[in-house]
Amino acid sequence: REAGFGFRDGVLHAERVSLATIAEAVGTPTYVYSAGALRAAARRFREALSPIPRKSLAFAVKANPSLAVLSLLRGEGFGADIVSGGELTAALQAGMAAGDIVYSGVGKTPAELAQALHAGVGHINLESEREGEVLAAMATRIGLTATALLRVNPDVDAGTHAKITTGKSDSKFGVAFAQALDIYDRLAGRAGIAMQGIAVHIGSQIIDPAPMEAAYRKIAQLVALLRARGHPITHVDLGGGLGVDYRGGADGDVLAYGAMVARVTRDWDVTLMFEPGRYIAAHAGVLLTRVLWVKPGSDCPFVVVDAGMNDLARPALYDAWHEFTAVAPTGKTIRAHVVGPVCESSDRFARACLIDRVAEGDLAVLRDVGAYGASMASCYNSRALVAEIMVDGDRHAVTAPRIAAAAIRTQSVPAWLEAAPLH
Ligand code: LLP
Repeated sequence: REAGFGFRDGVLHAERVSLATIAEAVGTPTYVYSAGALRAAARRFREALSPIPRKSLAFAVKANPSLAVLSLLRGEGFGADIVSGGELTAALQAGMAAGDIVYSGVGKTPAELAQALHAGVGHINLESEREGEVLAAMATRIGLTATALLRVNPDVDAGTHAKITTGKSDSKFGVAFAQALDIYDRLAGRAGIAMQGIAVHIGSQIIDPAPMEAAYRKIAQLVALLRARGHPITHVDLGGGLGVDYRGGADGDVLAYGAMVARVTRDWDVTLMFEPGRYIAAHAGVLLTRVLWVKPGSDCPFVVVDAGMNDLARPALYDAWHEFTAVAPTGKTIRAHVVGPVCESSDRFARACLIDRVAEGDLAVLRDVGAYGASMASCYNSRALVAEIMVDGDRHAVTAPRIAAAAIRTQSVPAWLEAAPLH
């Protein structure tokens, strides 16, 4: 693993900056990212795909929409895979060229499609025939041509957590494999859109590449059939999904993935598109938190930290594991539950786990939260939206300030409601 986070003189550092210094300056909870770790993962991914002649890499913005992260990845030659108008704005703000942006997502609104058209987004991945019709009509009206891919559901089980699998026939994503040819035929005949190929994404946190290979082989059949019908297929988007290990072991084997893709797609003669999110960002972030209380429990103590499920939702949503490490460990361990302050029992980061012994006021981190951490944060319980810091070598900067809930959801009470009589 890259040296984004490690101990120096007994204190956990992000690169050369002490996390104690950051907590002092910015408070907690705070996401801390390592620029070096992001660059290393981005380069490892690109390097692994070096056997593939024509390709484009688009970072899945949903994994981490921080402008600092997106700007850094733009510098590494990444475009953006977006799923909303908000993510489009973020990618453009980060300086990504519109042509390097690919727009996926099953529920794009007409307003979002218009925004993408006007911006000149490189590819719009269509999730249904109807979406293509609406896009084509809109483009014709504006006098533009949208470049689009058809997202196909290959009916392959990614073998990952049910909540993040997307390529089974009962999933909401893409058009059914059996209907893809005919839908593509009809969409390709429309003015206003230029169909350029196929997109597929079967899920996230995939460690075993076999289901991906199965999906890609089905796409190969489709590409051949489409070409036989006279369609010039120039692009295939292979999605994201390569997983990482959250317990300190080996990540999804990116070299094996690259080799598999090269082998399967050898004679496709297309530009291949990739949309990694987690693989690039997961290890590059920690959530810095302070221990508020250590209170007795029936079996073992509760370590109550100031980060909650609103700041990091993955454990509550997917029973995900994120290692809890003291910023200045003493070498002693205890068995404890690590819980947040939110009023839900699912606000729990670890259950009866062996952790560093910590006391009230100590700092700790939850690790490997650079992907789907801050991006899924909310203000639940009217808690502040968590702050973010970027570290690069010995420099650090606040890249997203902590924002009070009331500043995000500005509210009002209509006068007539106040005037209503009491019952
Ligand atoms: N492309 C598409 C069309 C996607 O839907 C996704 C993720 C990606 C690319 C990026 O996948 P990645 O390389 O990051 O696996 N919140 C969940 C993950 C949801 C993933 C949704 N789609 C989690 O925290 O595990």
